[in-house]
Amino acid sequence: MRRNIVHPGADELIYEIRQIVGVGKQLEKLGIPITWENIGDPIQKGEKVVPWIKEIVSNLVQKDVTWAYTATQGAEDTRKFLAEKVNERGGVQITPDDILFFNGLGDAVAKIFGFMRREARILGPSPAYSTYSSAEAAHSGYEHLTYELNPDNNWMPDIQDIENKVRYNDSIAGILLINPDNPTGAVYNKDIMREIVKICEKYDCILICDETYAHVNYSDSGSIHLSEVIGDKVCGMALRSISKELPWPGSRCGWIEVFNRKNDALFERYIKTLLDAKMLEVCSTTLPQMAIPEIYASPKFIAHLNERNRKYKERARKSVSILEGTKGIKVVEPKGGFFLTVLFEPGVLNDKMSLQITNPAAREYIQPMLKNIANDRRFVLNLLASTGICVVPISSFCCKKDGFRVTLLEENPEKFDWVFTTIRDSIQTYLGQVRS
Ligand SMILES: Cc1ncc(COP(=O)(O)O)c(C=O)c1O
Repeated sequence: MRRNIVHPGADELIYEIRQIVGVGKQLEKLGIPITWENIGDPIQKGEKVVPWIKEIVSNLVQKDVTWAYTATQGAEDTRKFLAEKVNERGGVQITPDDILFFNGLGDAVAKIFGFMRREARILGPSPAYSTYSSAEAAHSGYEHLTYELNPDNNWMPDIQDIENKVRYNDSIAGILLINPDNPTGAVYNKDIMREIVKICEKYDCILICDETYAHVNYSDSGSIHLSEVIGDKVCGMALRSISKELPWPGSRCGWIEVFNRKNDALFERYIKTLLDAKMLEVCSTTLPQMAIPEIYASPKFIAHLNERNRKYKERARKSVSILEGTKGIKVVEPKGGFFLTVLFEPGVLNDKMSLQITNPAAREYIQPMLKNIANDRRFVLNLLASTGICVVPISSFCCKKDGFRVTLLEENPEKFDWVFTTIRDSIQTYLGQVRS
């Protein structure tokens, strides 16, 4: 080809959460039943859609208007409804024009980075959620820039690390927070968020807050939104989605709420770019947008969220109670979201360790993959081939630590216990410990 058509960031597009599925599928063909603990889809893991939400959606399907295109920015009544929700919280105030719908936050993230000036960098957490780290790295053509989340401080962001990185790297145009966080399950309270807002104000940066799990928050502080703490100076946006909180991941419906856009002409122009880019696509999915006001305004909605949070809190406790005490690992009880991160202590893993893989074809298939790989990936592949449990190595989340992410989504309580006891026993065997 006379011209290289490959994007400079092409090698950065890595989504291990789904890539490991290829290995799992192959093992399935070789006779290993797989327990998928890699991806955050509650419906796939057996959660039933509640009948009253199904009824709202079925009624909308009967109306021809839900089959039409909607406004580029998103259905007007829905944006009005959501803007009022933000304003009711009493923090920064917005109008319906400060809301822009996307085909899921995956689409939003692709546009946020795809239409950002290449030299402008966004500093994100490590461990990172791959959609952001890949999109940011691909946009810049360099490795994603990260700040540390500290497992010894309940995975709270290292504020000093953030400030130092922002101070000494003027290509950083903004900071990304995920609250509640994926993959750590950490929930940042208002004080921590305000400290990050202060850094943004001091260094004139934007603040992006992913609120996918805002209502999957089973911490004592309850849901926290950026709008409540950002104040009236810093330009920012909150990213919201119905994927996890209804849950309806297949709706492909998410939106951004833009704060203080008029404070900076460049930010205002950038937000207009996102809208213009969406305009080229006409609009995002109509049906889920039309369902949002009815679902959120239902008297059953809050009870629905509470019930789900009670369930996840119990599972978070249960998983940690099974794993804690196991030598060589560290677990921090998740306070929000669908995931638990298990960390291996530094130095406990090496490239010789293995688990017994009784299926000879599976053993033969996995063996060549174990060469020259990260130590935590080696554990994950061994676990997959020996037990069928599919988790994701933490080193694939832009993280220098060893560990893995597992979901809290298994609906069957016996199976849930089996997953975590099998993980615990596998870790003990892998690290050469004898079970007491
Ligand atoms: C933190 C976070 N942000 C964004 C997304 C993407 O969500 P959506 O289904 O809206 O594309 C996910 C999905 O797992 C997520 O965990």
